[in-house]
Amino acid sequence: MTALRPALGLLVAALALWLAWALFAAPAPAPAQARTFNSSRQCQECHSAPYAEWEVSWHAQSWNDPEVRKLSGDFANTDCIDCHAPRPVLETGLGQRVLPRVARRVEGVDCLTCHLLPDGRIAGTIENPSAPCRPTERRELVQPEFCAPCHDQHGTVQQWKATPFAQQGPGFRNCVDCHMPFRDADPARGRDHTMHGGHDPALLRAAAELRAHRAEGALVVEVENVGAGHNYPTDERSRASDLFWRPLAEPGSGPLPWRHLYRFRNPYRYEVGLENTELPFGQTVTIRVDDPQSAGPVEVALFYKLSPYWSDPQRPDPEREATLVHRIEVAP
Ligand code: HEC
Ligand code: HEC
Ligand code: HEC
Ligand code: HEC
Ligand code: HEC
Repeated sequence: MTALRPALGLLVAALALWLAWALFAAPAPAPAQARTFNSSRQCQECHSAPYAEWEVSWHAQSWNDPEVRKLSGDFANTDCIDCHAPRPVLETGLGQRVLPRVARRVEGVDCLTCHLLPDGRIAGTIENPSAPCRPTERRELVQPEFCAPCHDQHGTVQQWKATPFAQQGPGFRNCVDCHMPFRDADPARGRDHTMHGGHDPALLRAAAELRAHRAEGALVVEVENVGAGHNYPTDERSRASDLFWRPLAEPGSGPLPWRHLYRFRNPYRYEVGLENTELPFGQTVTIRVDDPQSAGPVEVALFYKLSPYWSDPQRPDPEREATLVHRIEVAP
């Protein structure tokens, strides 16, 4: 009897502890319906692949982007907040201008901007009311009208509509076909959220073709938009692309300075007196170089500029201030 007493005491203590734990420490799991989302970070635990891609994308950086900060006076110009820290697109509605968000601006164009529906569910490709985020199928996610509230400000969607890519049929390719390809080209693996644009040299190389030949003694250079499903380059305010040439250096001597030949750009408001020279899809621009020095061996190069102006417009230095897209050598 005396031997049993401590064992009984232990049992009672254990039961009491269990009861306390059951009552206070372990609430029943919340039903899936109760899950509400107010930050992209909440998506990370279950959707690590799109999260990791988005995190390094310019969408995720649209609030911290130093170029935007500089031009907006750290968002003292509050008009700039609308698209750089927006509320959910499907809440304001397609065809409407997006509205600025008050909270978590640092997350930029975030998961909620593109996926959150007004009823708290998540727009996706499947119907699954029992999943924690309750995805529902919304086809408009992959339509150009979905990108338009933010991306048509400088005409990208209108430019796309004028290309053969916009014709329904075998050649049809919309924004996500080029900018959100399937991971490993496998539709079952979903779409890459890195959203490559002008910062990606590989995408830029796919956009344009650079050719040169001699005709009646003159150097003739051609650039064709073969891969951008809109104008090249497409953004009017921040982007430009420049063509340069120079005689090839003699062996043993350093390279000569690049000579500017042509600029592809839609001039912004205060660049008066300039024409829009963006190159529409499928079109070629042809430029003759009438300079005696171009008769010898030369090199020709196409550069892309993420910020349009040269620090010294008289002596532009593309190798320092721009991205090389294509370079060719032409024999005499
Ligand atoms: C209607 C939506 C919208 C508004 C309003 C807006 N932007 Fe943007 N901004 C965009 C989009 C979309 C891009 C990326 C598109 C592109 O590069 O073609 C962009 C890109 C930029 C870039 C280039 C960033 C880079 O990666 O180099 C800068 C700089 C910029 N915006 C500044 C501003 C400033 C300053 C304002 C306010 C005067 C502003 N934006 C207002 C939609 C908007
Ligand atoms: C606790 C885990 C969890 C969280 C948190 C979560 N989800 Fe989900 N999500 C799921 C599951 C499970 C599915 C269903 C997958 C399936 O059925 O193939 C799903 C499906 C989806 C789909 C549809 C997938 C498709 O193929 O179309 C999208 C889009 C989605 N989630 C986005 C989000 C976003 C955005 C967030 C954050 C706001 C989020 N989810 C938060 C677990 C979660
Ligand atoms: C700029 C808009 C945009 C942003 C930002 C965005 N998505 Fe998506 N997301 C899409 C589009 C478009 C699809 C493709 C839908 C389709 O194929 O029908 C998609 C698809 C998905 C899917 C379905 C499976 C897959 O991988 O394709 C999931 C899950 C998803 N997104 C989660 C997220 C999460 C999590 C975030 C934030 C880290 C996020 N998305 C940010 C536009 C966006
Ligand atoms: C709610 C507004 C919004 C929506 C919707 C949106 N974007 Fe963007 N996007 C932006 C902003 C703002 C930037 C500029 C971010 C920066 O660089 O500061 C941007 C940048 C980009 C870039 C440029 C990346 C780079 O290298 O500079 C691409 C490409 C892009 N978006 C594609 C898309 C596509 C495709 C869709 C539709 C599926 C889409 N976006 C939907 C606001 C949006
Ligand atoms: C056939 C493929 C293709 C299609 C379709 C396409 N793009 Fe592009 N996009 C490109 C290429 C290549 C570039 C790089 C060259 C350039 O800037 O034009 C680019 C550049 C961009 C940029 C510039 C990013 C920057 O850094 O300034 C944005 C924004 C963009 N595309 C958005 C869109 C939107 C929105 C759509 C749909 C209306 C779309 N694209 C359709 C191939 C495509």
